[in-house]
Amino acid sequence: MFETLTAAPPDKIIALMGQFREDPRPGKIDLGVGVYKDAKGNTPIMAAVREAEKLLYERQSTKTYVGMAGDPVFNAAMIGLVFGEDADRARIRAAQAPGGSGALRILAELIARSKPGATVWLSDPTWPNHVPLVRAAGVTTKDYPYFDAATGMVRFDAMMMALKKAAPGDVVLLHGCCHNPTGANLDHGQWEAVAELFVSRGLFPFVDLAYQGFGDGLEEDAFGVRLLASRVPEMAVAASCSKNFAVYRDRVGTAFLLGKGAAEADIAYSQLLSVARGMYSMPPDHAAAAIRIILEDKGLTASWKSELETMRQRMVSLREGFADALRRQSNSDRFDFIARHRGMFSRIGATPEQVEKLRAEHGVYMVGDSRINVAGLPEDRLDTLAASIISVMGETA
Ligand SMILES: Cc1ncc(COP(=O)(O)O)c(C=O)c1O
Repeated sequence: MFETLTAAPPDKIIALMGQFREDPRPGKIDLGVGVYKDAKGNTPIMAAVREAEKLLYERQSTKTYVGMAGDPVFNAAMIGLVFGEDADRARIRAAQAPGGSGALRILAELIARSKPGATVWLSDPTWPNHVPLVRAAGVTTKDYPYFDAATGMVRFDAMMMALKKAAPGDVVLLHGCCHNPTGANLDHGQWEAVAELFVSRGLFPFVDLAYQGFGDGLEEDAFGVRLLASRVPEMAVAASCSKNFAVYRDRVGTAFLLGKGAAEADIAYSQLLSVARGMYSMPPDHAAAAIRIILEDKGLTASWKSELETMRQRMVSLREGFADALRRQSNSDRFDFIARHRGMFSRIGATPEQVEKLRAEHGVYMVGDSRINVAGLPEDRLDTLAASIISVMGETA
């Protein structure tokens, strides 16, 4: 059987993590792996999650199956979090899923069931895992331009021009906030223009919301999703709880769909659950149960929101500090975009050779496309890091 196989290429980020671990240099800096880190370099369990887990331990009386859609109370709470308390719940359906990735995967499969041979447009660049997750459903992918490396801005006109050529019924994957890998996001006016285009061209939005609360705030980061939900007849949204509840390994997210009306939504939902049944049967429960406890309890919700806000502010101030340090070291404002970006990532614009040189000569680790995790920036050594980067990238672009 297996003699027909050749080895799959190693995952680049996992390989980078291994290299970092084995690097004996004391001042090494890890800007690679995509998890939030505190000032000590740890990814702690949030206080509200720990408290909810204690309550869960005391209260949970069975581990029997929860069902294909997971816990309906968790799902209802997630509708509130993502779509807002005023959401038109009659046309929204939600299914707990194994992480944002699981939600993306079952929604892609639902799209393929609804429209065999569908085309899904992905931003260039996008999170590399979008490609296999979406293509595994058998759909075709196309790219739309998104990021201008020279200015660090969204190539909005080029993006709109490409999407104007998409066929009615095509699916467009959008990052809800905190674009990974670039950190460059649509502003409110641009979201408005996107919504208008989607309605006029009959495009189907598929929104990936993996960092709600990491950008401008929990409500602000849902602006695009909520705007689209109020305008388009149908859409899909994959939300992840990995980052904003820091429950990465416990695997929880939510797959949402919006139908034209309640009856259409029910039919599509029954197909979504049948997809889930055929792929993993039922989602894991543990973190979803803990999150349900948090969202049902005012005190725990307040504690979670305040810790999330502290994390968000830390990332914003690291961005500002790093952009300042790069301005001092480069005598230019060419890295100022880092302070304007939002979320955990930015692309600093180094070539793959420069990225390798930073690793080999300075012990600075980042992904080959020069994506950095801003939560990994060392707040007490920003000038040293900026000096290393400028020594490799040069003072002028
Ligand atoms: C853009 C994007 N979408 C989805 C995910 C999925 O996260 P998870 O499956 O861990 O919930 C990630 C994680 O890095 C991401 O960056």
